[in-house]
Amino acid sequence: MGELFRRFWLPAALSEELTEPGGAPVRLRILCEDLLAFRDSSGKLGVIDAYCSHRQAPLFFGRNENCAIQCPYHGWRFNTEGECIETPNAPNYLRDTPRAKERLAIVAYPTHEAGGIVWIYMGPKDLEPPFPAFEFTKVPKGHCHASR
Ligand code: FES
Repeated sequence: MGELFRRFWLPAALSEELTEPGGAPVRLRILCEDLLAFRDSSGKLGVIDAYCSHRQAPLFFGRNENCAIQCPYHGWRFNTEGECIETPNAPNYLRDTPRAKERLAIVAYPTHEAGGIVWIYMGPKDLEPPFPAFEFTKVPKGHCHASR
């Protein structure tokens, strides 16, 4: 069933849980994956793997600042796309090769905010469907329960 659900946009969190840019992240467990939702300091939403690609430290305890989550262990920084953009304990040239970039990156899923809900798509990129036009996602803010 997990493969089937991965072909649809799934509700992941309420927008009201993630209102503040640079605010506290929210832990999620969806389709047996531990994830982290956060709104970076520029206001961009991200849903990424809950653990760091270095030593698997939980990013929930990291700092959400300067457009990234910073791992609490060695300080690697991940943006909303799951890219590792800084490795303070290792030379940056190790991070900047194409192979290293791929290896250091963590899972990140596309997000869409509508109807007071943060939605994610967890399937293959080439099969991503358009976001469904649910009526409740089109009404003005405050006119449905999730967007109050
Ligand atoms: S465990 Fe995250 S930077 Fe080392």
